[in-house]
Amino acid sequence: MFSSMNISVVGAGYVGLVTGAIFADFGNDVWIVEIDDDKVKKLSRGEIPFYEPGLGELIVKNASAGNLHFTSSYNKAIPGSEIIFICVGTPSKKGRVDLSYVYSATKSVAENLKNPTIIVIKSTVPPGINTKIEKWMKKFTKVDFGLASIPEFLREGKALEDSLHPYRVVIGVEKRAVAKKLLLLHKKIHCKRLICSYASAQMIKYASNAYLPTKISFANSISILCDKFGANVEEVMKGVGMDKRIGPDFLAAGLGYGGSCFPKDVAALINLSQKAGYSFSILKAVEKTNKKQIDYFVKKTIRLCGGSIKGKILTVLGLSFKPATSDMREARSIYIIKELKEQGAEIRACDPVAMPEAKKIISGVDFFDDPYEALKGADALLLVTEWSDYKNLDFAKIRKIMKSPVVADGRNVYNRKKLEKLGFVYEGIGK
Ligand code: UDX
Ligand code: UDX
Repeated sequence: MFSSMNISVVGAGYVGLVTGAIFADFGNDVWIVEIDDDKVKKLSRGEIPFYEPGLGELIVKNASAGNLHFTSSYNKAIPGSEIIFICVGTPSKKGRVDLSYVYSATKSVAENLKNPTIIVIKSTVPPGINTKIEKWMKKFTKVDFGLASIPEFLREGKALEDSLHPYRVVIGVEKRAVAKKLLLLHKKIHCKRLICSYASAQMIKYASNAYLPTKISFANSISILCDKFGANVEEVMKGVGMDKRIGPDFLAAGLGYGGSCFPKDVAALINLSQKAGYSFSILKAVEKTNKKQIDYFVKKTIRLCGGSIKGKILTVLGLSFKPATSDMREARSIYIIKELKEQGAEIRACDPVAMPEAKKIISGVDFFDDPYEALKGADALLLVTEWSDYKNLDFAKIRKIMKSPVVADGRNVYNRKKLEKLGFVYEGIGK
């Protein structure tokens, strides 16, 4: 039988908001504690700080029903909570994991504990850190608490779907009673469960966020060979992925991975390995390959533009690190545009939702809402993020408005034959 629990979630980022909204929707009473007062005010008015399909509606629904509350005061939320999720960011500082937010959040939680509770670390932290966190928290409280690690595997843009129907829920615990209560909380999420140690749970997160980029970098390396040997990387990866031992996902070649997790977690695992006396050569190559893919695309563009892009107008379609998000963290567009500008090109850029974010990071670029406006008189179209808005463009119209009919397709979304028939010079990545 389901019984409602009192929950707090510390940190109103992607992970915190999704976790809070989902558990509130299951009928629990959820407080989201966020140190940024401005964010709290906005959330209380139903304004979501980023674009994530469906999340705003779920938050508003549960806030109106009275199951979801926002505050910047630990004191308001923590004392009555049975389970507290720590969802603050763990950014990368020159490849090292910055744990300062985790320490400050767990300190504030400890100082406000009134009753025995379970504290779940959802932030991505180095394996084994729970023992340190436990000792740290005990400095600030005499109240009994159980610690657990439940890593988050959600993808931005598909956060709700991934949280409601994940491949697995991994629960890292040392006490059976803690595991039992957490299993009960996750009862409405139907998927495989894995109960393991703290360190294993945290290593599972790092290993997953390192293995998926490894697949991507591998596919990208094969894409370069496909270009050299006249093969088509899409056909190749389709064939490779048909082997169940490999699987079809995360083999899409293109411009490489970005976002808030893969680059940071790959760098962190390389760094953690180094500190532990092991050189993780595979991951170093994964990182290097990911960077190289940008040079490869820029060189390809220069070649397609006749050997120089100096003074040429290049239109970049898509800025966010992937479609269906406004997130610009480690977006490939940032690095590609920087390189193109260094080579003397004039850049025009479009994105359906990420432009406000992009404007904070990218300067010296002309931003356009309408891709057709951005393509008028352009020397090349560069597809950088495969938003559906850009997949079905009217290329007959584009052919008439561009100065030179050049398409550099960084995400392999366009049909070569169709474009060549219209008179375009087209290249994808490895096809
Ligand atoms: C999460 C993290 O759990 C990270 O470890 C994981 O690798 C990726 O996902 P995310 O939800 O994207 O990160 O974090 P972010 O968008 O940075 O949001 C964290 C929120 O916590 C921010 O709103 C920040 O203001 C808030 N915060 C930070 C607190 O409320 N308290 C603090 O002490 C620090
Ligand atoms: C990722 C993980 O998928 C998720 O499990 C984890 O919790 C957080 O990190 P996210 O960063 O939101 O999620 O996006 P994802 O869809 O995994 O894409 C990451 C990057 O890889 C994007 O830049 C995407 O363009 C790129 N990618 C993905 C490829 O280049 N090829 C692929 O085949 C798949």
